[in-house]
Amino acid sequence: MPSSEITPEPVFLRRRDFMKGTLLSAAGLLSSSAVLASSSQAPLQYRKSKPAAQSGFYTDEALTPYEDVKRYNNFYEFGMDKTDPARYAEAMTTDPWSISIEGEVAKPARYHLEDILSWVDLEERIYRLRCVEAWSMVIPWVGFPLADLIKKVQPTAKANYIQFETLERRSEMRGLRSVTSTIDWPYREGLRMDEAMNPLAFLATGLYGRELPKQNGAPIRLVLPWKYGFKSIKSIVKIRFLEKQPYTTWQSLASDEYGFYANVNPEVDHPRWSQKFERRLPSAFFTPNRIATQKFNGYGEQVAHLYKDMNLKKFY
Ligand code: MTE
Repeated sequence: MPSSEITPEPVFLRRRDFMKGTLLSAAGLLSSSAVLASSSQAPLQYRKSKPAAQSGFYTDEALTPYEDVKRYNNFYEFGMDKTDPARYAEAMTTDPWSISIEGEVAKPARYHLEDILSWVDLEERIYRLRCVEAWSMVIPWVGFPLADLIKKVQPTAKANYIQFETLERRSEMRGLRSVTSTIDWPYREGLRMDEAMNPLAFLATGLYGRELPKQNGAPIRLVLPWKYGFKSIKSIVKIRFLEKQPYTTWQSLASDEYGFYANVNPEVDHPRWSQKFERRLPSAFFTPNRIATQKFNGYGEQVAHLYKDMNLKKFY
């Protein structure tokens, strides 16, 4: 086994504790955050989060190890390789950080991240993340519902959609300087307002009870567990409320392959590969860990009503 595969003991111990915490919390005995709270490295704002078992947003499936969550990433601002973000995202300055709120909203302004965090209560959520490339993970996030921020800034009656933008900083993002990149930066994503207000839509500021690693979208990123991972935009600096459906990066790059909705759906294949199965990470050649993909990534009960009159083959 290469040494890179060996988990450092403190991480292993924390993970074991975390798993223990999760299992116990499923039984209603102890919360996983209570266990995480014992990690002396966790900054206060992550320690205070409400445990997943209390919020009701958790799964008892095996967590993807912390090391895999932070070394196998898609963050094209830092390169196309899965290992590029872990290698290069450290160059991104994330403090100070602010988010500009614009468009159809009563309180447009540029807000400091600390101010936004002072409005909300952090909680932990254990969600499945399913990438359109057919790999998946189970990640314990820390953050707050997107709806909490939306309510605070008061969208107008004309706000039917919401658009998000990632930081665009060429000096710190080598992917933006790449001559082979075809992406029209900044990375942009969007949601219909009722999707954005759904209780599952989450803004993450941490994972595994710790600060969000830069390669995972520090200091604040979206997590939409019922949609393909590309909708879960990282390192957000702008949120715009709009009347019409917004421009989104992947839809504009290849609209026949990536739709605006991008709901996880085993019945609608990607034109170049099947979406019926996924590789649950960690996986390897002899242990591919192949599992059947669930519609809405298993979150149908919470979100299927949003699409009840829609043809999901057409609006993929
Ligand atoms: N956000 C930005 N800004 N840039 C990206 O390249 N990749 C997306 C999404 N958010 C991406 C992004 C894709 S394709 C996936 S699968 C997830 O981030 C991966 O999140 P993770 O690296 O934390 O697992």
